[in-house]
Amino acid sequence: MSQLQALTKRKSVREYNKRGLKSDALSFVDQAIRPPYAVDNGDKIDIRFLEDGHHVKTVLGGLAGYAGVMIEAPHYLAVLVEPIPEAYRAAGYYIEKVLFDSMEYNIGSCWVHVAEPHMAKERLGFDSDKQLVALVAIGEPLEDNAIAKFFQRIKANKASVYSPGGYGNLEIEYSDTQSDRTSTVDLVYLDTWGNSLTRDELEQRNLLEIYTLMKNAPSWGNRQPWKFIIDGYDIVLTIQNNERGDIASDNLDGGIAMFYFDLAMNQRGFSGHWHNDVENTYHVPEGYSILGKYTVE
Ligand SMILES: Cc1cc2nc3c(=O)[nH]c(=O)nc-3n(C[C@H](O)[C@H](O)[C@H](O)COP(=O)(O)O)c2cc1C
Repeated sequence: MSQLQALTKRKSVREYNKRGLKSDALSFVDQAIRPPYAVDNGDKIDIRFLEDGHHVKTVLGGLAGYAGVMIEAPHYLAVLVEPIPEAYRAAGYYIEKVLFDSMEYNIGSCWVHVAEPHMAKERLGFDSDKQLVALVAIGEPLEDNAIAKFFQRIKANKASVYSPGGYGNLEIEYSDTQSDRTSTVDLVYLDTWGNSLTRDELEQRNLLEIYTLMKNAPSWGNRQPWKFIIDGYDIVLTIQNNERGDIASDNLDGGIAMFYFDLAMNQRGFSGHWHNDVENTYHVPEGYSILGKYTVE
């Protein structure tokens, strides 16, 4: 199993060992959330480690988690963000990178929606102008974590996942077997909205693996709201706006997708960059937003 095949098996962890993280895992988290954050607009986010998970769960009951039901975890991260779309995306991107890398330390995680950001911030005693946009439950997964074992095995072969090419070689199964996931071909259009490609066409363009990987990105309520438009060598990311009118949520999902896209491209030997402010020359319909364009450098 390659490292990215392991990623196709990644899932949110909702049951944790009650004991806290071990010291090597804690120091990984400590390092990873220390600013400056290596992402565009990283100066607009502030990530805090909340050690006492029991306290957090107690004070945030009814205010965070789907339907106000908090996930019980030994620790949490609190994600504070300037309330603008590009900062939400930066948070989604950077946090997801930390969570991906943290699997190496047997850290399981789950994003937690914050329904009442003002009250939640107050209950946590945060003094900040930024918006508490999400929490992330973190801890040792209760069930045996095959992904962590895999990461630990490959650790011997490389200095760190942060080292160049440190994510290992890409080799992904092309199966569309996960029943709760959108089929790969439904994610991608060519040139303009609605112009789908077949599986074979995606494969001929060497793109099937990238979009197969993308489907594994987490999203609010597992909405999988992404559509990609291939424009020459560039890729445009669009997101279906959620019914709650929650811009933060759409852009967090978008930032998370941008991270996985970058990762997949990096594995293919490409480096590129996401840009904001893309004109809608693609006939993207109402109800969707264009969040960025990836250009290969
Ligand atoms: C912004 C965001 C908020 C989320 N909030 C919650 C939450 O409050 N409770 C929960 O159980 N899962 C939450 N999730 C996790 C998603 O439900 C999960 O990623 C999705 O169902 C896909 O499952 P997977 O992560 O196991 O692949 C959230 C995910 C995101 C991206």
